[in-house]
Amino acid sequence: MALPGGPAQPGSTRSDAAGPDAGEVDVAHPSIARIRDSWLGGTHHDDADRGFADQIVVCAPHLPYLVRAQNAFVRRLVRYLTDRGVRQFLDLGSGVPDINAAHRVAHEVDPEAKIVYVDLDPTIAQDSADLLAGTGNAAFVRADVRRPDEVLGAPEVTDLIDFGEPVAVLMIEFLLHLQDSENPAGLVAAYMDAVPSGSYLGISHFSQDDQLHEGLTLFSRMFGAPPAVKLRDPGELVRFFDGVEIVEPGIVPVPLWHPEPGDEQVRNPELVRVHAGLGRKV
Ligand SMILES: C[S@@+](CC[C@H](N)C(=O)[O-])C[C@H]1O[C@@H](n2cnc3c(N)ncnc32)[C@H](O)[C@@H]1O
Repeated sequence: MALPGGPAQPGSTRSDAAGPDAGEVDVAHPSIARIRDSWLGGTHHDDADRGFADQIVVCAPHLPYLVRAQNAFVRRLVRYLTDRGVRQFLDLGSGVPDINAAHRVAHEVDPEAKIVYVDLDPTIAQDSADLLAGTGNAAFVRADVRRPDEVLGAPEVTDLIDFGEPVAVLMIEFLLHLQDSENPAGLVAAYMDAVPSGSYLGISHFSQDDQLHEGLTLFSRMFGAPPAVKLRDPGELVRFFDGVEIVEPGIVPVPLWHPEPGDEQVRNPELVRVHAGLGRKV
């Protein structure tokens, strides 16, 4: 699978990573997670990431806005979950755990909340080690999310997460890296099978959008890889929530998911091409 921004890009040092222990960090190559960090005003990106970000914005000028709206959703999502007593988070395809990262939001409520981030990108591993240094109850695992047994069996996961207690499984803009032929719904189910009743599944996903597709395709081509992202409309996301109950307000554009008074104002929130939903395992 070619991963735009992921760790498996042909022709780059990052992309040569065949598994958690493979590959060298090559900071000359940008990653989509670090580009997102630049749009969010984070600190873990460099000139190469900013340069690629500028080129993508030519195709999709609204992409930084979508990323910010999605990131604000993550903050509301984690607060919603902590308000309901959830104290364990497994963030899959985590990217740079900085602005509104689950541990930052959850630890505002309870420093004892446990958070494990999982990503395959070696640069993200380095960024995470930096960002999580000195932070208790938060860990990073460099692993392939497509291998749930390895992720769930990783010592960082088993040391921190108690699978007898509810866990919030988060997939924030991760599933677009999986084509339908890779059975993403089966992968989601594998993670949800491992967590008990009262656990949650949070998903956010870019929807069909010509400009977005152009921007992300351009990013893929920068690596010489074929376009590999899969944009999905909200109707296509429903199957990922098989076996869990989708909580109100359902799968909606991110600005409409439990909006708060201080949110960035959106003139037509229903038109925002990134959707999200939260499901509860009963
Ligand atoms: C679009 S970014 C989203 C990052 C983050 N969730 C956020 O909301 O900003 C997708 C992330 O998924 C990671 N990723 C892609 N495929 C992966 C895989 N098979 N296993 C682990 N991480 C993967 C990429 O490295 C990247 O950091």
